[in-house]
Amino acid sequence: MKKITKVNVFVCKICGEAYIGEEAPSRCPFCGAFKKFFVKAKDYDDTGAWDVELNEKDKANAEKALEVEVSNTIFYKCSNTKTPELEGQKLFKILGRVEQEHAAVWRKILKLDKVEFPKYDKCAAEYKPNLEESHSREDRAIRFYGQAAAEAENPRVKEIFQAFVEVETDHLHLSEARLK
Ligand SMILES: [Fe+2]
Ligand SMILES: [Fe+2]
Repeated sequence: MKKITKVNVFVCKICGEAYIGEEAPSRCPFCGAFKKFFVKAKDYDDTGAWDVELNEKDKANAEKALEVEVSNTIFYKCSNTKTPELEGQKLFKILGRVEQEHAAVWRKILKLDKVEFPKYDKCAAEYKPNLEESHSREDRAIRFYGQAAAEAENPRVKEIFQAFVEVETDHLHLSEARLK
């Protein structure tokens, strides 16, 4: 008899994307949110996930967050193509994808149809300066998101900002470990 592996479908409550596996992953492969945000697909309820009422402050912070994520996405895509080391290419590619997913989350919260990702080529052609820029970008994002989470009135907006503080802290640790 063939053994059937117990796979399941899990959904990330932060970005709404699904994951197939025996267990929920330690990090969402799309937005990087931690395991605690995963639920089984049959228990997922997206009521209120994307139809969020934004007060003036939350809207302004969501708009600023979208700008930050777009800027970081295009920086990482540039670094992915220009960094000579294969490890660096892989690192910056996945960071670019995660930041692009963050931008998509804010786009949906702001109910925008699409977001422009301008052409950008001002990253370095070396690994180290790109890691240094990554470090300062993530550091800035973490500080802004922490403040935005504290200010947030809407619980969904607060949850996203808090989740992304953790994700960007992962990113900060990646550059820190490589700059030592
Ligand atoms: Fe996610
Ligand atoms: Fe991000």
